[in-house]
Amino acid sequence: MSEFILDIEQIRKSARSQMEKGAITQNYQADRHAILKILDTALATEWICVLRYTQHAKSAQGLHAEPIAKHFAEHAKQEEGHANQLADRIKQLGGKPDLDPASFGRRSHTHYVECESLVDMIKENLIAERIAVDAYSAAIRFIGTTDPTTRRILESILEVEEEHADELADLLAAFDPREPIN
Ligand SMILES: [Fe+2]
Ligand SMILES: [Fe+2]
Repeated sequence: MSEFILDIEQIRKSARSQMEKGAITQNYQADRHAILKILDTALATEWICVLRYTQHAKSAQGLHAEPIAKHFAEHAKQEEGHANQLADRIKQLGGKPDLDPASFGRRSHTHYVECESLVDMIKENLIAERIAVDAYSAAIRFIGTTDPTTRRILESILEVEEEHADELADLLAAFDPREPIN
């Protein structure tokens, strides 16, 4: 078994001499710029999801609209929570959260799509959730053990996106394809 050796004198020295770096210490092992890029893309993606879900929640119409609109509104709230978690982590890593709405569409993994029917809304959001699940999974694999805090944040978000995708798949399956849906 190998022994755990810590050069505590060196750690104390660098803690004091690089105080301005805040949470970033000499043992931070990730490529900070690569992590910030991942977080920036995720931030824009979450905001596009907030906007798409909110638009769908407000414009859903038809016999089955109310409970589904409630799901959309609830998801929008959770996506906003994710966006805030990501923005906090960007700041901790010495970056600046970019909330310029003009570039959300370009930076996001998912698209802002308005739909005419409830079933199309469910499909569009399900596709977006599946994209988010895949992108977060890939980011988590890339981070590995280099940045445990960012990894944990992304893992907790991934878990919720998987729940969203599962719920939407259930909603989609609940529709009888023979009945017209508005
Ligand atoms: Fe999210
Ligand atoms: Fe989601």
